[in-house]
Amino acid sequence: MEEAIARLRQWTAESDNIVFFGGAGVSTESGIPDFRSVDGLYHQTYRFPPETILSHSFFKHDPAEFFAFYRDKLIVQDAKPNAAHLKLAQWEQEGKLKAVVTQNIDGLHQMAGSKTVLELHGSVHRCYCEKCRKPYPEAFINEGTGVPRCACGGIVRPDVVLYEEGLDDKIMSDSIRYIQNAEVLIIGGTSLNVYPAAGLINYYHGDKLVLINLSETPADHLANLVIHGKIGEVLSQL
Ligand code: OAD
Ligand code: ZN
Repeated sequence: MEEAIARLRQWTAESDNIVFFGGAGVSTESGIPDFRSVDGLYHQTYRFPPETILSHSFFKHDPAEFFAFYRDKLIVQDAKPNAAHLKLAQWEQEGKLKAVVTQNIDGLHQMAGSKTVLELHGSVHRCYCEKCRKPYPEAFINEGTGVPRCACGGIVRPDVVLYEEGLDDKIMSDSIRYIQNAEVLIIGGTSLNVYPAAGLINYYHGDKLVLINLSETPADHLANLVIHGKIGEVLSQL
């Protein structure tokens, strides 16, 4: 591990074109559970599996249950950026990092100071009426009960991508462009299980692909450097 961190330190010190691509594991050190770890959301008991509740058809069919789950499990109040978020923001400020591409919806990269954040799966911090598109503050959903309704009668929902919904074309194409042009691509805190996001790794053509994840991923064999550890602990050593 020491040797791997030393190499990562050298690659990142020398580069002004780092791109980071991450997932839920980036925020576990901020106290937000991920999805697929043993203590992740998918292993907690709820009436329906999260993949089901977080789908567009379930949202349509049973919005009351959707919002109960959403408020209970996906809204984390008071979470703060950890060492991983802070290091990435620092690198951007120093002109070393071009973009953070994230599957997370928690807004912690922005809270840490990152500016170019491509949120593939949207954000809990933006909400809108599904019918008339009027924007609403997040408190309208988070602090209410039952199904939040707009004056027009439509349901007010978070701007997050549910299963069965497509990703934003512009965010996806920008992410592809940053990754294609990256010198160092650091992928961290993601099980690389959910497509199309997981497929972004295939657009990288360089020879400095770094994977930092607690557990093994299906892409470990593609990486030039694999570090199995906590991303905040690893990045804070750089
Ligand atoms: P997962 O929960 O699938 O994967 C998180 C990964 O992070 C796991 O492989 C963990 O081992 C690892 N991990 C946890 N804590 C870590 C830490 N401190 N340092 C390093 N690694 C750590 O989360 P994602 O890959 O982000 O989609 O999941 C992708 C998508 O699945 C999510 O965006 C969400 C979910 O369904 C939607 O909601 C649309
Ligand atoms: Zn409306």
